[in-house]
Amino acid sequence: MKRLAILISGRGSNMEAILRARLPATVAAVISNEPGARGLEIARTYGIVTEVVPHRGYPDRGSFEQALAHAIDRHGADLVVLAGFMRVLTADFVARYRGRLVNIHPSLLPAFPGLHTHRRALEAGVRIHGCTVHFVTESLDHGPIIIQAAVPVLPEDDEARLAARVLAQEHRIYPQAIRWILEGRLRLSGEDRVEIEGARPPAQALCSPEVEG
Ligand code: GAR
Repeated sequence: MKRLAILISGRGSNMEAILRARLPATVAAVISNEPGARGLEIARTYGIVTEVVPHRGYPDRGSFEQALAHAIDRHGADLVVLAGFMRVLTADFVARYRGRLVNIHPSLLPAFPGLHTHRRALEAGVRIHGCTVHFVTESLDHGPIIIQAAVPVLPEDDEARLAARVLAQEHRIYPQAIRWILEGRLRLSGEDRVEIEGARPPAQALCSPEVEG
């Protein structure tokens, strides 16, 4: 069985979706940079080993990442899953885990990298928003895309409502992406494209608002 390390900073709802998905893998550890992350308690209720590597306890990013990598490797992780892990990672760290480091981001990348994606989507007036699971590269919120989910932006939406609609899809696509990786069905083709063996294309387009007639 492949071993996962799940890295969190807060609530941990994506982590929980992954724990509930009964993936053919061992979750070796949930690691947080925030000692107070709610996700740590949730992980413990699932009997998962937790660990805190507090970024504030290190003089610089390099030494924090050294400690983080040490923890990940000590747990024998094959795949590193960023699930709301809110620290920017250096090129050195990313290179160390190249091809086995994945992230979920609450937008349809390459739109809205960075923070406050739902607010920015509302401000931009987009009618379709969503989330993305991707392999991590040196550039922030960028890298070969594995799966995306699109949701409509509705007239009555505020940031919280839109975030909740996107989050429900995050909880579907992240376990799916990890399952494909564990099943060995992903191939990187070229620099930036992922092929997924046997993946079904979606049945229809999402139009927002709906086309009449
Ligand atoms: C999720 O919406 C995730 O996509 C986002 O943080 C939230 C964590 O929630 N990640 C990023 O913005 C990374 N750039 P969770 O702790 O409940 O999974």
